[in-house]
Amino acid sequence: MQYRKMGKWGIKLSALGLGSYLTIGFKLDLQSSRALVRRAYEAGINFFDTANAYNKGNAERVLGECLREFPRSDLVILTKVWAPMGPGPNDRGLSAKHIREQCEASLRRLGVDYVDIYMCHRPDPETPLEETVRAMEDLARAGKILYWAVSEWPAELMVEANAIAATVGARPIACSEPRYNLLYRYPELSLFPATMRLGIGNVVFSPLAHGLLTGKYEPGAPPPPGTRAADPEQNAVMMQLYWTEENKRKGQELARLAREMGTSAAVLAIAWCLRHSAVTSVILGCTSVAQLEENLRAVELEIPEEILARLDELFPRPVIPGV
Ligand SMILES: NC(=O)c1ccc[n+]([C@@H]2O[C@H](COP(=O)([O-])OP(=O)(O)OC[C@H]3O[C@@H](n4cnc5c(N)ncnc54)[C@H](OP(=O)(O)O)[C@@H]3O)[C@@H](O)[C@H]2O)c1
Repeated sequence: MQYRKMGKWGIKLSALGLGSYLTIGFKLDLQSSRALVRRAYEAGINFFDTANAYNKGNAERVLGECLREFPRSDLVILTKVWAPMGPGPNDRGLSAKHIREQCEASLRRLGVDYVDIYMCHRPDPETPLEETVRAMEDLARAGKILYWAVSEWPAELMVEANAIAATVGARPIACSEPRYNLLYRYPELSLFPATMRLGIGNVVFSPLAHGLLTGKYEPGAPPPPGTRAADPEQNAVMMQLYWTEENKRKGQELARLAREMGTSAAVLAIAWCLRHSAVTSVILGCTSVAQLEENLRAVELEIPEEILARLDELFPRPVIPGV
């Protein structure tokens, strides 16, 4: 395993992290989750990503249970706040009240005294940034969190939050978590350059576009049974963001290219995310130990320039007028 610094900060994360959305505590019961987490730990993964909202707290509960057998000092645990956790007006968002209450609830569910990285899952336009910045600082001073972070925040909002933090004597954002894969290259345009300038690390999610970049989905054919795409309880985001005949064709072409290199589409797609110098860690989603074993090989794969050029042709970087 490789370890990378989280932006300019001292903490080091494994280049591959293990996620828990729709997997740990959802598709996988405690026993299969434990096998997955154990294998990840044995392979040198120290970074585990979860969120309060994943299966209504159950991902945190099961992940916490699985991690209990390892020394706390070996682990970098990230969890998130923002998504609705109840019907009440204060059961969501990034107010000081909700942040404090959900942090306490996440610590209880995970069974830990502190989380390493506490993340705002999305922006909350109804709460002043200063309130959120101060709430994170209060948690850090109370010893509940070490770093705070944001997911899918635009670069300008991070710049603004860090300027407020500097003014009020609070910690700045240390890490960001954008969606990033061959089919979604937007972070390369302004987010990666801004975070590199600010010394903010990036832990990136959905490296396989929910599995589409494994080549297992064929154009014109229904999704194989047992996959994320085949399950209406799991496939809403995938269907909305990626499920087109063209993308399935691209998944197949990626698999052909990977075969030429003697590897798999999943390994090539994950290694492609790892190649970017703004990326601290790529968060894997796995529903079996076999998938994890395969995906772990991405750390070893060097992608030759000629293959990178072919990937650029197949998955061009988006162009936004004026950017
Ligand atoms: N911050 C955020 O808003 C946010 C959003 C989404 C995710 N995340 C985090 O990022 C993690 C990863 O996201 P993701 O699940 O969307 O990642 P992904 O890598 O795009 O998709 C993972 C899914 O692809 C399939 N898969 C993985 N490896 C495979 C292989 N080698 N061969 C065939 N199929 C394979 C599995 O689904 P099946 O076996 O079921 O088909 C797996 O659950 C999550 O667990 C979560 O922790 C964060």
